[in-house]
Order: sequence, then structure tokens, then C-alpha cells
Amino acid sequence: MSNQRGLFISIEGIDGVGKSTQIAHLVEYLASRGRETVQTFEPGGTELGQEIRHLLLHRKGDVAPRAEALLYAADRAHHVATKIRPALERGAVVVTDRYLDSSVAYQGAGRALDSAEVRALSMFAVENLLPDLTVLLDLPAEQALARRAKTGQEPDRLEREKVGFFEAVRQAFLSMAEAEPNRWLVVSASQTVDEMQAQIRARVNLLLG
Ligand code: TYD
Repeated sequence: MSNQRGLFISIEGIDGVGKSTQIAHLVEYLASRGRETVQTFEPGGTELGQEIRHLLLHRKGDVAPRAEALLYAADRAHHVATKIRPALERGAVVVTDRYLDSSVAYQGAGRALDSAEVRALSMFAVENLLPDLTVLLDLPAEQALARRAKTGQEPDRLEREKVGFFEAVRQAFLSMAEAEPNRWLVVSASQTVDEMQAQIRARVNLLLG
């Protein structure tokens, strides 16, 4: 086992804020610093997880909210046990696109489950493993959805409902960040890619020492 300490980073935010771009740049940077870096994601970061992801995102028909929360938690339990923890024990840096805060924000805020219960479920799943750093890429829901859609048309009723849902998810992320400032870094996604990346690297450098 390496004597270098592992570092666990999660990247969070609603859909359309540019997580993948920031993760790609961050992983490149970490590799340039000579650190073994494991880039991963939820849901679906393992083989079993791919099957769970399919159930969650592509299966036709409704999934009961508690069943949905349990499927995300099952994906996460396997992800942590087989990929994240072993990497951290080797001394690697793990960068994951979404982690348990996504469950609290999406299943808790959006689908009318109790946030504290959703969090407790995930904490059970991961045997209490929290990231050293969670980066929230923050953008008002309307702008994030506009970036995704890029149609230039006025939003219809369904799209306005979507804005409401994503804004509730966004607010859930923001209040978690406020409650736990030592773990979270909030980065405004209305900045340029480079500006956002500079803020992320500054914080990561403090943790790398
Ligand atoms: P993601 O793969 O990030 O979406 P995309 O690649 O389409 O940007 O995540 C898939 C969806 O799953 C996303 O809408 C957020 C949602 N999600 C939850 O609702 N709860 C969770 O715990 C996680 C990890 C994701």
C-alpha cells in the first residue's frame, strides 16, 4: 500500500452546468501532478452499476420513489466497496461525477422523500464515507436548461415545470454547501471554463499539500 494519503473529490450540480468539462480538466491536472487518478461517476460507475443505471434511466414505466432511492443507494454501495475505497487505500485521487449529495438533492428535494432519510440511506450504503471535497457547479436552473436545450424558443408548460424541479434541486445543493462549508466549494458556472477550473485547482492544491 502507498504511504500517500488518498483524496476523494465529488463534483455536483444540476444537469447542464458543465460538470464533464471541469472533471476532464481536473483529472488532466491531477495526472500532471503525478497522482494516480481514478475518474468515475454515478449512477453506473461499475459493471453492476451499469445495469442499475439502465433500470433507473432507461426502463419504461414508473419506479416508486423509495425504490428509486434504494437503486441509487445500491449503485453507490457497490461503487464505494469495489472501486472508490480500494483506490483511496492505494493512495489515489478519486474524482466522481455525482455522489450521495445528488441523492439528497434529487430524491429528497424533488421527489418528496425526507432529505434526512435519503442521506441516512446513503450513509448506510457507503459506510459513512464522505468526500474530502465536494465541488458544486452552480447555475440558475433556467440558464442550465437553456444551455442543454439551445432551442432559443420560449419554454412550454412542461419545460417550466422542469425549471421548478431543477431549481428546487439547485437550492438543496446550495443549502447543503452552506451547512458544511469545510467540505464544499461553490463555483459559479456563469464564469468561463478557465475561471471555474482555477478556483477548483486552488482548493484542490490546498488538500494535496
Ligand atoms: P448523470 O449521469 O449525471 O446525467 P447526464 O449524463 O444525463 O448528465 O445522472 C443521471 C441522472 O440521475 C441525473 O438527472 C441526476 C440523477 N441522479 C439522481 O437523481 N440521484 C442520484 O443519486 C444520482 C447519482 C443521480
